[in-house]
Amino acid sequence: MIVCVCNRLKESSVRNAARAGATSADEVYTHCGVERNCGRCQDEIELILDEEQVPAGMEKAA
Ligand code: FES
Repeated sequence: MIVCVCNRLKESSVRNAARAGATSADEVYTHCGVERNCGRCQDEIELILDEEQVPAGMEKAA
C-alpha cells in the first residue's frame, strides 16, 4: 500500500524506517531519501510509527 503518494512511499518502507530507528515522519522521509511535499501522509506515517514502537511482548492479541 502506498502511504505517501508524493514520494511513492510504501507502508513497508515506512515500517523499515521505523525499525531502523525513525521516530518521526521527517526521519522517515530522510531514511527513505525523500522530502516532505504536501504532508498529507504525515498522520498515516505517525500511526505506523506508533504501531512499530509497541514494546516487545506488548503486541495486540490476534
Ligand atoms: S503524500 Fe506524502 S508528502 Fe504528499
